[in-house]
Amino acid sequence: MISFDKKSSSFRLETPSSSYVISLVNGYVIHSYYGSKLGDDDATYLSRPKEFGFSDSPVFREKHSFLDYIPQEYPTDGMGDFRESALSVTDSQGRNGIELKYKSHNIFDGAAAISGLPAVFDSCDCTDGNNVPKAKRLEILTEDKILGVEVALIYTVFENLDAIVRSVRITNNKKNPVFVKKALSAAFDIDDDHFDVITLHGSWARERHIERHLVHMGKQGVVSMRGETSHQEHPFIALLDHNADFNKGRVWGVNFIYSGNFVADVQKNQFESVRLVMGINPENFCWKLEEGESFNTPQAVLVYSENGLNGMSRTFHDLYRDHLIRSPYKKSPRPILINNWEATYFNFDTQKLLDIAREAAKDGIEMLVMDDGWFGKRNSDDCSLGDWIVNEEKLKGGLKTLVDEVNRLGLKFGIWFEPEMISPDSDLYRAHPDWAIQISGREPGMSRQQYVLDITRKEVRDYAYEAVAKILRSANIEYVKWDMNRQLSDIGSTALGSDKIGEFYHRYVLALYEMQERLITEFPKLLLENCSGGGARFDPGMFFYSPQIWCSDDTDAIERLAIQEGTALIYPLSTMGTHVSVCPNHAVGRVTPFKTRGYVALSGTFGYELDITKLPPEDRTLIPHQVELYKKYSSLVRDGDYQRILSWSDGGDADCWASVSKDKSKALVTFVQVLNHPNYKTRFVKIQDLKENATYKISFPDENQNDFPPQTLTGRTLASAGFALRRDWGDFQAKLICIEEI
Ligand code: DGJ
Repeated sequence: MISFDKKSSSFRLETPSSSYVISLVNGYVIHSYYGSKLGDDDATYLSRPKEFGFSDSPVFREKHSFLDYIPQEYPTDGMGDFRESALSVTDSQGRNGIELKYKSHNIFDGAAAISGLPAVFDSCDCTDGNNVPKAKRLEILTEDKILGVEVALIYTVFENLDAIVRSVRITNNKKNPVFVKKALSAAFDIDDDHFDVITLHGSWARERHIERHLVHMGKQGVVSMRGETSHQEHPFIALLDHNADFNKGRVWGVNFIYSGNFVADVQKNQFESVRLVMGINPENFCWKLEEGESFNTPQAVLVYSENGLNGMSRTFHDLYRDHLIRSPYKKSPRPILINNWEATYFNFDTQKLLDIAREAAKDGIEMLVMDDGWFGKRNSDDCSLGDWIVNEEKLKGGLKTLVDEVNRLGLKFGIWFEPEMISPDSDLYRAHPDWAIQISGREPGMSRQQYVLDITRKEVRDYAYEAVAKILRSANIEYVKWDMNRQLSDIGSTALGSDKIGEFYHRYVLALYEMQERLITEFPKLLLENCSGGGARFDPGMFFYSPQIWCSDDTDAIERLAIQEGTALIYPLSTMGTHVSVCPNHAVGRVTPFKTRGYVALSGTFGYELDITKLPPEDRTLIPHQVELYKKYSSLVRDGDYQRILSWSDGGDADCWASVSKDKSKALVTFVQVLNHPNYKTRFVKIQDLKENATYKISFPDENQNDFPPQTLTGRTLASAGFALRRDWGDFQAKLICIEEI
């Protein structure tokens, strides 16, 4: 998987379908190649080291020409590479610019762990007792002797996955402090082959919509300066062949295992090559390193696929399911929940919740989740965050009485928190106004009438953690929804002086990770679902703590097609919080069939977010059947290979995707007709990657068998011609198609 060839002074990182070559040229660590598998050749020529003024002399004449042309593995600033850099450091004498030269390297068994940060791990299943390493890691140590700074370039490679996970460790070996002003996690250069670039964008209630365009000269990419991943942009960027589609073409996808400010750019330059970089956003970032201290960057995941976007998605899904998510729930069915948010908003009491639970139990729903509004004086969003005391006017007899009663009805119980927040109208704020993030002398800005707690201070995060833990210790609570409803501004902290305030954003993320680590350590069986005003914290960093994340506050089945397509481009369906809600939909006012809402939600963790006691009978009767469908197909959806077939958001009239079992013996296809046309013909739907010569039965379990009779086709025909799907009548009709080998 990883080797070093002394003769050519080059490293080879090999995955099943890709090769990655790093070479040492005149002491520089050079990126020579990343793409489809190479033969057993010396590949160092691919970085063209002899061009543009290269000389064997260490002080060669045309240094700028060389540095601004050669693809560096970890480009630094200030020395003559004028493209986007990955590292910028200043020392206490004001020396800017850093130049890294190779020092040594090591190859180890196992994946690289990073203290305090989420990171991919080795074992496929922590409980399988299989200790054979599936991963190897390479550490290339480089240094700048003038600054006394050492930089370790760290690569983890998995035996069976086309993924390379990169991070960097920066160490100050000199007596005086140095200031790291930019420390990205990964960079690589590639000749532009008429590439497209894909990024994800959105807003509240329409997160992660896919955008694709031709790479143009200059810089293009995505950033967050919001202190969290955000609704608006996403830490993902992909380069791909212009004609690449779901199943063909080369794709280089890069994703960031981090939950704070980020940057991901591609930059096309004068030599028609493209540099891709990803890491912590350097804006308002500056990390002080005293002698002997190190800074670890989060990990960036590089995935290469020569089988289009579906190939890329499959690798990300497998990597995250097997090597990032740690929850005991990751390979088991999630309880079907009913959440009271859209049913009641803040207006509920014990009686109302029990009415919902009682009706839910009759239909096979397995857990009641009590959302925002159960604590302090919270009857709207204008107060009480921080006062995590049960409101006994609403919950008569207290929380335990409610939980016990819900358990007696046969349901588990879950609860909502927003631990990082503080309302100006709260006892907590009245006691500790300095606990809110604020710039001294300035009135902090509010958002949703709340401030953010300065959890970078230990006493503040201890308080916030204890408040949550105390409630969880008080009753049989088996699920927590950890929400976060505003983004960070007014960055100031009494705990950090002017030399360290540039560390604030990253320290905030580390503090969040520490709190969630504590939570899952103290409550190892807890099902934790992250959330941020919908899906603003849907990122791989959070998967390390929670196996599922609320995807969006938009539960409209049609808007969800775009959101879930963008999300599934990188993340497994098992991570997506998906609920059936009422119509007209609360976010967009659209009316869709209850059946369609159910099918779309079945491609995620599945649950309900409605007042079941008021549901029209024709919808209510469908719930037990949907529960049955979830039980039947959830393992296929959770553990299978995702396959995108049609995209409505990309201009199609229908949306379609599948989950195919790993052994290729069955598949579940979901088809949603978004736009209907008159004179519409039967459509043929192709599905790839089944066994070519096996015969499959294609059936429509929820349809009238006379209108939709089963079909029998081989895997080969299904891939090349597809099965027949008859035209349907009415708005937003959906079909569930079951494919089984016979
Ligand atoms: C935002 C979440 O996304 C919603 O589901 C709900 O929990 C509200 N916050 C509660 O304030």
